[in-house]
Amino acid sequence: MNNQEKINQLISKREEAALGGGQKRIDSQHKKGKYTARERIEMVLDEGSFEEFDMFVQHRSTNLGIDKQHFLGDGVVTGHGTIDGRVVFIYAQDFTIFGGSLSETFANKICKVMDLAMKVGAPIIGINDSGGARIQEGVNSLAGYAEIFQRNIMASGVIPQISAIFGPCAGGAVYSPALTDVVIMSNETSYMFVTGPKVVKTVTGEVISTEELGGASVHATKSGVAHFRADDEDEGILLIRKTLEYLPQNNLEDPIQTECNDPIDRLDDILNSIIPENATEAYDVKDVIYTIVDNQEFLEFQRHYAKNIVTGYAKFDGMPVGIVANQPNYLAGVLDVDASRKAARFVRFCDAFNVPVLTLVDVPGFMPGSRQEHNGIITHGAKLLFAYGEATVPKITITLRKSYGGAHDVMSSKQLRGDLNYAWPTAEIAVMGPKGAVEVLEARSVSGMSIEEATKYIAEKEKEYTEKFANPYEAARYGYIDDVIEPRNTRFRIIRGLKTLSTKKDTNPPKKHSNIPL
Ligand code: HXC
Repeated sequence: MNNQEKINQLISKREEAALGGGQKRIDSQHKKGKYTARERIEMVLDEGSFEEFDMFVQHRSTNLGIDKQHFLGDGVVTGHGTIDGRVVFIYAQDFTIFGGSLSETFANKICKVMDLAMKVGAPIIGINDSGGARIQEGVNSLAGYAEIFQRNIMASGVIPQISAIFGPCAGGAVYSPALTDVVIMSNETSYMFVTGPKVVKTVTGEVISTEELGGASVHATKSGVAHFRADDEDEGILLIRKTLEYLPQNNLEDPIQTECNDPIDRLDDILNSIIPENATEAYDVKDVIYTIVDNQEFLEFQRHYAKNIVTGYAKFDGMPVGIVANQPNYLAGVLDVDASRKAARFVRFCDAFNVPVLTLVDVPGFMPGSRQEHNGIITHGAKLLFAYGEATVPKITITLRKSYGGAHDVMSSKQLRGDLNYAWPTAEIAVMGPKGAVEVLEARSVSGMSIEEATKYIAEKEKEYTEKFANPYEAARYGYIDDVIEPRNTRFRIIRGLKTLSTKKDTNPPKKHSNIPL
């Protein structure tokens, strides 16, 4: 072979690798409304930035006749490229080769890019579309998964890890995405479960469809496994790119401040009247969020799960900030098991990657009842408490209305190292609401009164209690609130606060790791 022939051989090998499992299987993938692994990577990355690794890798198995079948690349496309000019590492499972199933060499390819991502300090993106462990590979496949899991664990809190599920993801394979920071699922074309419908039927007798068991809707609304349910792969790919905009390359860097054309000192008069005069009336806290953030842009995490708390990313004067807000529009914004878990994980995600946390408080307390108690609201509530108390990023808290009882302490209070704690004049910071307090305190006084007398007496006492306690000034009197601010000035106060806190340094005592109540 002369040199030109050698070059031609390279070109034809590249062309062969680019075809994955062949045109027929590519067509079948497209027919299902799915892109191929390479198409997905091209769409995620900046145009022309992808450099592929290990395109000539082939499996080494000889079991069950698989040695007669070889495909260049062995079912996963790996490499690196850029997103908005910043380096990322990426892998995409190729369903056209052995159904994207994982072999020893397949796992090695993924581990190689994960290792390099860690050394370079750059995010890793994994796109899942796979039949799971490659049956012919036996235990080598299990070992391969475990190699990936171990790397996911080591990378946690060091580099951002993003998973997209654009097809099957079943069995133990689900645990790699579950260990990462963000899980994005495409609607109706993806599913995740530990055991599929057939096994479920055999073991428990339950008859359930794939979609009902582990489709994107289920994981976005019920289990909370997915952070985003994308309408389709195109939206899923945009979400990968968008999420990284708010994150630094690694835990030693700060998120990037971008240019902002939204005035920092605009007055949002609408906020002065957003809180209803009637304290039991609801409003949408997302109206507050969209009003105060840059250009009304808010990337909401877990939008359909535990809707009583809102979490997501936005920018203030171009600075990325994580927002946690109680949602009075749903279950009165109460803290329950799911809301506590959702917010705790989000706060820790922000803290791991140096993203300041803004907390908007309107919380009547923890959800009462045997269901919550038996489901462990004590432990789960403690997670959120722990996450806030442990976080060392700048923490700004604004109490919009209610902040009662234990929930007051939990929601980034001053004593959990809240840096700037502001309240609107409509804030009610107290041990409990007026009704509950009067019921406890006055039970003895009303015994023996007629119903009319008791009603009048209770109403007077509630008024007295409201005037004394249901306001921000009791907390401000002790310095638990740094200032009571006019609602329309909120955006400016947050931005000034973030600037002031931008050089904040805080640490936790040296330890192997904490023992967060999991
Ligand atoms: C080897 C596999 C495979 C697998 C699919 N294929 N899964 N090859 N090992 N696990 C091959 C098929 O033989 C087929 O090859 C091609 O991929 C496409 O598969 P189809 O079945 O034709 O596709 P589709 O009808 O879309 O069904 C997709 C599927 C199904 C639902 C994923 O293939 C399936 O149920 N696969 C088995 C899933 C499974 O049980 N995996 C093991 C889970 S246990 P040809 O040559 O015809 O194109 C596990 C443990 C992990 O993963 C533990 C980690 C700790």
